[in-house]
Amino acid sequence: MDEKTQNEISRRRTFAIISHPDAGKTTMTEKLLLYGGAIHMAGSVKARKAAHHATSDWMEIEKQRGISVTSSVMQFNYDGYCINILDTPGHQDFSEDTYRTLCAADAAVMLLDGAKGVEAQTIKLFTVCRKRGIPIFTFINKMDRAAKNPFDLIDELEKVLGIRSTPINWPIGTDGDFQGVYVRETEEVLLFDNETKDHGASMVKSISAGINDEEALKKILSDHHYETLKNDIELLDMAGDPFDLDKILAGELTPVFFGSAITNFGVEPFLKKFLEIAPGPQAHETSEGVIAPDEDFFSGFVFKIQANMDPNHRDRMSFMRICSGKFEKGMSVKHMRTGKKITLAQPQQFMAYAGDIIGLFDPGIFRIGDTVTTSSKNFNFANIPVFPPEHFARVQPKDSMKRKQFLKGIEQLSEEGAVQLYKQPGIGTETYIMGVVGVLQFEVLEHRLKTEYGVDILRNNLNYRFARWCSKQDESADIDFSKLTLTSTSMLVLDRDEMPVVLFESEWAISWALEHNEGLKLDDIHER
Ligand code: G4P
Repeated sequence: MDEKTQNEISRRRTFAIISHPDAGKTTMTEKLLLYGGAIHMAGSVKARKAAHHATSDWMEIEKQRGISVTSSVMQFNYDGYCINILDTPGHQDFSEDTYRTLCAADAAVMLLDGAKGVEAQTIKLFTVCRKRGIPIFTFINKMDRAAKNPFDLIDELEKVLGIRSTPINWPIGTDGDFQGVYVRETEEVLLFDNETKDHGASMVKSISAGINDEEALKKILSDHHYETLKNDIELLDMAGDPFDLDKILAGELTPVFFGSAITNFGVEPFLKKFLEIAPGPQAHETSEGVIAPDEDFFSGFVFKIQANMDPNHRDRMSFMRICSGKFEKGMSVKHMRTGKKITLAQPQQFMAYAGDIIGLFDPGIFRIGDTVTTSSKNFNFANIPVFPPEHFARVQPKDSMKRKQFLKGIEQLSEEGAVQLYKQPGIGTETYIMGVVGVLQFEVLEHRLKTEYGVDILRNNLNYRFARWCSKQDESADIDFSKLTLTSTSMLVLDRDEMPVVLFESEWAISWALEHNEGLKLDDIHER
């Protein structure tokens, strides 16, 4: 591999921001882009988000948004690094794609609202990152307002998410009297200047003074703030987890940063530290062993397929994570699933490297998880898991004469990964049960079946909230999945691969099933 390609790969940093809606992801992304000079005006990302949510008519939104690479990845340069921030759709458009995007990231930034701590959507996304073993960086946002006690927040990370943490900085004043942070490694106080109103500018004044330098610190902090800080730091040094790079890179320990995205406090120090610690493009497992990013050949896998909602443009966009080598516009590659040579045509980028994401116009070639490569070797990247749907409905064609088109349509959509398809054993193929991660997907499904396949459907929403794949705790266990003891509100179905799945209405029913079926294992994420 030539030196230029090698350098390009090693300066890539590809990550996703995971958070609960309203924690400040848009604001944070915008500040990061400002540092990279990728946008010049605070408010641009925000404006796009506003346009995105202004109307509840999703079809309209999709039309406006069109198919664009920029909505899936934002790339910018900073300090010699080339940074890719992967977009993880939240709010109404939370879907399997949100989860799948995490399979293309080398690290995650977990953004929490300091007043709210760990919230529902954070838990779901964290679980996926944890399973992948990628490093997770925690940014506790909105410290300019009253926040939870920082020790309680650290405790929550451990109790709710089960991850140990190591604070990089520590907040001073968390009752709505935010003064700034103390950076533990450099023994620096970064003061928060409440007067600065320019959100594009940094608000940091830095003062170097060890925690025992009472005289210097009391010049800038009140007695109360100084005493609290001193006690906190002593406690952290004594009882907290020390910084351990190996554990961070293994995803076992999360470095924690306190700050405020909207006031741009602590964002740049975070970015700098993140770039210092976060790994470059990682090696990927395949059916034939591990593929390193600096292999001589190009390889990548499809992690997301975005259908065009405009019926006049049937083309889809497939998003691919480059795992090794370099991509050049119009290059010819082998499509592993079909064994065919294909040309990666019409991408918006001319050149991309391992670690990058490319968007490809796709006339229907790709499926989620597909591998392409220029290597003469045959291999497939490890499958992208199936994530747990949360909304379920029974669907059937309104007009039974349209059954054939209906089946073709739902099969196609399920192949794309837009919906999960289940059958009830013993019941004909006329009705199916659909599972989706985000409820908006149902509307997409209806719209696409109508416009692309000419089928109107009847949809009855079901009360199930959880899908769990059945397996045995121990291979030798004698369990007949078709005869499980379940509560009356739970139901056994089969997924596309005829794997048994139980749909549950509550967590309680899941526990009940586990108690009453010895040796049964129920998985929320299914590895194909
Ligand atoms: P999201 O993408 O995670 O959903 O969050 P977003 O950035 O849109 O932020 C959600 C709200 O939180 C916004 O307020 C935003 O201004 C605010 N916010 C973000 N970071 C901070 C912070 O560090 N401190 C404080 N105090 N607020 C923060 P909004 O009222 O919903 O919108 P807007 O009126 O500000 O546009």
